Amino acid sequence: MTSNRARIHLLSQRLSNQIAAGEVVERPASVIKELLENSIDAGADRIDIELEKGGIKLIRIRDNGMGVEKDDLPLALNRHATSKIEELDDLENITSLGFRGEALASISSVSRLVMISRTPEADKAWKVETEGRNMEAKVSPAAHPPGTNVEVRDLFFNTPARRKFLRTEQTEFKRIDEMVKRLALGHFDVGFNVQHNQRAVHRYDRADSETARQRRVAQICGPAFIDNSVVIEMASSGLRLWGWVSLPTFSRSQADLQYFYVNGRAIRDKLVTHAIKQAYRDVLFHGRHPAFVLYLELDPTLVDVNVHPTKHEVRFRDSRLVHDFLFTALHKSLADVRPENALERREVGTETELGASHNFQQSSINYGVPGDDNTRIGSLNLVLDNKEGRTWSVDNAGTRRPVSPSYLGSVQDFMSKNLAELPADNEDIPPLGYAIAQLHGVYILAQNALGLVVVDMHAAHERITYEHMKAAMDEDGIKSQPLLVPVALAVSEREADAAEEHQDDLAALGLALERMGPESLSIRQVPVILKSADVEQLVRDVLSDFLEHGSSDRITAHRDEILATMACHGSVRANRQLTIMEMNALLRDMEKTERSGQCNHGRPTWTQMSMNDLDKLFLRGQ
Ligand SMILES: Nc1ncnc2c1ncn2[C@@H]1O[C@H](COP(=O)(O)OP(=O)(O)O)[C@@H](O)[C@H]1O
Ligand SMILES: [Mg+2]
Repeated sequence: MTSNRARIHLLSQRLSNQIAAGEVVERPASVIKELLENSIDAGADRIDIELEKGGIKLIRIRDNGMGVEKDDLPLALNRHATSKIEELDDLENITSLGFRGEALASISSVSRLVMISRTPEADKAWKVETEGRNMEAKVSPAAHPPGTNVEVRDLFFNTPARRKFLRTEQTEFKRIDEMVKRLALGHFDVGFNVQHNQRAVHRYDRADSETARQRRVAQICGPAFIDNSVVIEMASSGLRLWGWVSLPTFSRSQADLQYFYVNGRAIRDKLVTHAIKQAYRDVLFHGRHPAFVLYLELDPTLVDVNVHPTKHEVRFRDSRLVHDFLFTALHKSLADVRPENALERREVGTETELGASHNFQQSSINYGVPGDDNTRIGSLNLVLDNKEGRTWSVDNAGTRRPVSPSYLGSVQDFMSKNLAELPADNEDIPPLGYAIAQLHGVYILAQNALGLVVVDMHAAHERITYEHMKAAMDEDGIKSQPLLVPVALAVSEREADAAEEHQDDLAALGLALERMGPESLSIRQVPVILKSADVEQLVRDVLSDFLEHGSSDRITAHRDEILATMACHGSVRANRQLTIMEMNALLRDMEKTERSGQCNHGRPTWTQMSMNDLDKLFLRGQ
């Protein structure tokens, strides 16, 4: 037995680097990440990326950053060698993307890596590569402009087990592509050029202005994302959040358009995801995912990035503060979306929207006037020509006839009794315009400055009712009621501790829990509106929220669900005839109501068809 025992020995440099590579160098995309981060840390504002065969055969990154001095070059490929931190305290205040000093050593242990670099002061460039089991660095002169060029050939040529896990060239390229996009969205001040198999595939120009940044986001996330998103910009208690979040109506079936950055570093974090999901909870169709590009900026000492070698995760010192800030900022921005914002966006997005083919000085307003038998006067088409100060009536064939002031007087008299006021000119037309008809008892058709507005009247009314009910509830606070028979609950000690610790928070939610023993609680009081819910499950979920996030929105979520059901039953059903006045009242209500762009299930409540859209349908002016 003893004769089989192996002796202890130090691993060779190469082997120990190969073992470390297992953590950070998984595939070509992870090599790209490390190399691009180095170029960004070196202050480059232009990076060229050259790939062959999905990066498996060749990855070449060339930057115009500060370069590496000749004497430091051998160290650059050494493990635990970095220029970015010096002592333990520096770990608390990381402002660079790298700091662990292991990427180049790891990559060069599993590929053929050559690095050429020149500082702006040096008169020539130097090249470094490693040789042998101990990875000795060989430095020799080279020709290169200031900046750095890292070439990685034949990834995993000496680690067949790893190579086996590589997928097809296209798949590896796709992952690289996604990685470059992720980094490009995080660093607008750097231009990126991507070449694959000698073909130019992407070019992201340096983006220094708001429009240029917007252009890059549209390039990466698609123009539809920018057109259907709200701009976020919020700061409080030392935290700043900015970026773009999709309107709830632009949701996705997968969580594939979600970019979140903390001080320029792309991260995935449960706390962040939870806060964002919670902000969208009330407006997103079930099972759909929001799209967002968001940047959180905070003092680097308040966030720990040294959690995982790939640095995809972070730990916030005050996670509750961050969670609440994200939630509040997004929740507020989403609630603030009103029809007029959506229309503004259209006007900014397509400046020709109110184009020359339609002189909106001359706005036409059609009123279909339904009524009781004795008031029915048929439908009425009027054209108000504001420039000439004249009014015309238009028949179905489009023939115009001047309208005499006295006839107009009697019409206006009728309208003022039956309809919302006539707008004096375009300026006064409200965002959702004026109702002109009801279609099959389901849709309201309205005319606004841009053209036609179509409203799903049930969906719209449901949202309005729901928001009214919520507001009324919020005003009164959550009413709570003692249980006749308290419910005993077996929990873990951590949960019981949490219940005690958060007693006040729980009371604010209408819950009274009493500790009965180390691992048992008793539910004494619950919110009135939830008394028929499964209280036991609810309390368990709430406690686990408190343990994980320091807060819980479950009670509100449950309450809102119940209100939503009530709102749904209390809202106008399809097939009910509304008068023009009722329809206009609904439109005005929508303009005032939070989140009125979507019904309680996240479906849109209205849509705009501009004259431009309609012209396109009819191929007018093309
Ligand atoms: N593109 C580059 N430009 C300038 N210096 C670089 C570049 N790439 C790497 N370096 C230098 O090499 C060192 C080691 O890089 P790396 O192994 O990625 O570790 P880290 O980035 O964690 O410091 C860096 O600290 C930096 O000084
Ligand atoms: Mg690095």
